[in-house]
Amino acid sequence: MTHFDAGPLTEPELGQRSPDFDPEFVAKLAQLIEWRRDVRRFRRDAVEPDLIERLLDLAQLAPSVGNSQPWRWVSVDSPQMREKIHQNFVAANAKAAATFQGDRAALYARLKLEGIDVAPRQFAVFCDRGTQQGAGVGCKTMPETLDYSVAAMIGTFWLAARAEGLGIGWVSILDPDQAKADLQVPERWKLIAYLCVGWPVEEHAVPELVRFGWQDRTQAGRFVTSR
Ligand SMILES: Cc1cc2nc3c(=O)[nH]c(=O)nc-3n(C[C@H](O)[C@H](O)[C@H](O)COP(=O)(O)O)c2cc1C
Repeated sequence: MTHFDAGPLTEPELGQRSPDFDPEFVAKLAQLIEWRRDVRRFRRDAVEPDLIERLLDLAQLAPSVGNSQPWRWVSVDSPQMREKIHQNFVAANAKAAATFQGDRAALYARLKLEGIDVAPRQFAVFCDRGTQQGAGVGCKTMPETLDYSVAAMIGTFWLAARAEGLGIGWVSILDPDQAKADLQVPERWKLIAYLCVGWPVEEHAVPELVRFGWQDRTQAGRFVTSR
């Protein structure tokens, strides 16, 4: 008796017919990955709310440990709250700047590392480390995989946004405890990213930090060790 004699297959057993990702699409996808940028220079034009909703829907499809989907979004809208976040950045960035000396310090001072003053949409993205969704599958030994899941989701959101021509800037130069206090989120939420979202002033295939002479791309992470 074969497995198939047991009765009609259920949907998970059958699989579904997938779209044809033809070579043209694959080439375009490679271009999308190549042209995704961290954006810090935004136009002030509004972003249609429907577009943001579509991107948030797509981001829901991102991988997550145990299907926990632990990301939590806070849209930072009021000028007062944005000012608090900006001040948070200014203080954190001053501390970071003080860790460099000489030419590096001078170059650091020239870098633009956020677009909080202009980006029309801004989101603080948290990980709910206390989520019950997924019932702990996969994250018993490595609880930090919940955080990684949020980062993976942001990668999905970032590419989906770029496909629409929309720029994303990830700001991490923040005091996370201060941001949490200002945004009044639950204690168990961990800040993963502050995202600036808007239409970019310019397009580049080369990262800003490379163009400004801070850090080239290297092959360090390209090598695969075999055991
Ligand atoms: C976890 C993470 C944190 C980052 N934080 C910042 C930041 O605080 N400010 C900034 O300007 N860029 C930030 N970036 C963007 C990186 O600088 C950028 O990804 C890198 O220079 C490569 O450029 P690209 O994204 O345009 O390819 C961050 C990126 C990641 C993934």
